[in-house]
Amino acid sequence: MNSIIEGIVDKTVYGHKSRTPAKLDFIQSVTGLFLALFMWGHMFFVSTILVSEEFMYDVTKFFEGSFFGIEEPLIVSGFVLLVTIVFIVHATVAIRKMPVSYSKYKAYRSHMKMMKHSDTNLWFIQAVTGFALLFLGSVHLYIILVNPSEIGPWASSDRVVSGMMWLLYIFLLIAVELHGTIGLYRLSVKWISFKNRNVRSRIKFLFITLFTYFIIHGSMTLWAYAEIGLRNIENGTVGEKYLK
Ligand code: HEM
Repeated sequence: MNSIIEGIVDKTVYGHKSRTPAKLDFIQSVTGLFLALFMWGHMFFVSTILVSEEFMYDVTKFFEGSFFGIEEPLIVSGFVLLVTIVFIVHATVAIRKMPVSYSKYKAYRSHMKMMKHSDTNLWFIQAVTGFALLFLGSVHLYIILVNPSEIGPWASSDRVVSGMMWLLYIFLLIAVELHGTIGLYRLSVKWISFKNRNVRSRIKFLFITLFTYFIIHGSMTLWAYAEIGLRNIENGTVGEKYLK
């Protein structure tokens, strides 16, 4: 609906049918795909804590350049900056699809009730979680960006418990998994044509399974950091660095 309005505006104002809406749609898809795939990678790197503290430490050092024989946390900051830029571009192009006034929001809700179409409801969940991610994601990205040397089995756990980040992470995890999985589902039905209805419902089932898996996986990871953070409080070792 928004792209139809954009098209009409382009035609009336500029006198021709602009390609801008299609370009913006493409940018939104590419940046969304990048972020969703990054999140899968992120979940696995962060969850190395489930294997052992030592393994998570080694992975942290790998991202600081241990592979090239260096130890430079700024490399992590550079990577966070890249993800942050993609995050901002994605949010900027996506925001044009949000209802911009209460009357537009009401019109959308009554449209939703009338249609009773599950994919339209998914759009609504994605808009709400996307809005939440603007705040939740920004806090996390900024903290990691300016504290690249404070990533590790103990430093991360202290941030989760003593730094009270567990509360933010619970909401962030739910929002990012809902947003990312619905986004990937919508991307797949948008760019790949499924003539067969059966295939579409199988794809839906696959994404529901993925969502459930990542929520369980993420919760276990968060719990592992929380346990270490609590242990550090008990041992009076909060703020100390893990040493191999
Ligand atoms: C390059 C960018 C990023 C880096 C280096 C990074 C790094 C980390 C690290 C080290 C942790 C462990 C806890 C801690 O140290 O505070 C963590 C946790 C977490 N991060 Fe990120 N993060 C990045 C981007 C993101 C983004 C864009 C999101 C979502 C919008 C996100 C969502 C989460 C969640 C939900 C957790 C909690 C752990 C879990 O439940 O699995 N991160 N991140």
